[in-house]
Amino acid sequence: MPKAYVFTRNGGPEVEALVEQEAPVPGPGELLVAVRAAGVNPVDWKLRRGYTRPGSEPQPFPTVLGSEAAGVVVAVGPDVEGFVPGDEVFGSPVTGGYAEYTLLPVAVTAHKPAGLSFTDAAALPVAAATAYEGLRQLAPAPGSTLLVTGAGGGVGNAAAQLAHHAGVKVVAVAGMAKKDFVESLGAVHVESGPSVAVRVRAVAPDGIDAVFDLVGGDTLREVAPLLADPAALISAADKLLAVELGGAAVVRARTSAVLGEVAGLVVAGALRTHVTRTYPLSAAGEALRAVESGHGRGKTVIEVTA
Ligand SMILES: NC(=O)c1ccc[n+]([C@@H]2O[C@H](COP(=O)([O-])OP(=O)(O)OC[C@H]3O[C@@H](n4cnc5c(N)ncnc54)[C@H](OP(=O)(O)O)[C@@H]3O)[C@@H](O)[C@H]2O)c1
Repeated sequence: MPKAYVFTRNGGPEVEALVEQEAPVPGPGELLVAVRAAGVNPVDWKLRRGYTRPGSEPQPFPTVLGSEAAGVVVAVGPDVEGFVPGDEVFGSPVTGGYAEYTLLPVAVTAHKPAGLSFTDAAALPVAAATAYEGLRQLAPAPGSTLLVTGAGGGVGNAAAQLAHHAGVKVVAVAGMAKKDFVESLGAVHVESGPSVAVRVRAVAPDGIDAVFDLVGGDTLREVAPLLADPAALISAADKLLAVELGGAAVVRARTSAVLGEVAGLVVAGALRTHVTRTYPLSAAGEALRAVESGHGRGKTVIEVTA
């Protein structure tokens, strides 16, 4: 029977288990996909702890973890056009990505370019797409200065790269252990922690034009007043606080078109996925712990053996 990594109720890591369960059956507009790689994201442990996505029903237990996956189509449900068995795809699964088989709705699935590995493709739908859509929302002008908090993580490193590539000056807030990493993305590093705003002012004496926040809390409170225009602030980590401070949450379209555009940027060399750690499905818990620590570097991906 196929394997899947699930949580059996809401709670901490103790509610996770590697189980065997039937492959799901594709419904209308869905693809059954043999997973080759699954990205790991903070939302995975947040859902395990009981967070519910706005507008979505809580999933029945056991719930398979994982919000992004890449693999090979093995069957298509009713009303599917444009995909056939054998296609290599990536997208946002409805049944969890940490599994040998998952369901991808065609509305949030794209064909994987031949030049992109399954591992890199699995790293795109959540973090890189959030960075891409967030930057489109913020629209920093070439030559302006963008502050990215949490710049060494999955979303942050992609945002820093894309902004740098668009001619924006990037100030990257990250721990000292990620200084070299964020500098390699073309950003100016500022150490995270108390008094971060003082350090930002020192490297950006002409001010900050926009903030892309991926940390929230005290860090966001401290950097927000650096902006002349509070509306030039978006957060993917702390939506309520961003709004309270005059900014906004990242608004995501989550479409196949966006996935295709992000993959195109990787193929064109404008974006690197920076998958820094991979784990087999048998070590999915370890992979999730690496992200749940809150101090991930780049992306963590689970590779599923065919
Ligand atoms: N709304 C959406 O659609 C959406 C999509 C993707 C992600 N998100 C959210 O966005 C956030 C970031 O996601 P991610 O995938 O980039 O996470 P990640 O890969 O775990 O990276 C988070 C980064 O934040 C930094 N960090 C942690 N605590 C910090 C603190 N107190 N001060 C400063 N930096 C701190 C860490 O760097 P250091 O080790 O250097 O501190 C880490 O590199 C998460 O809250 C996630 O749930 C939302």
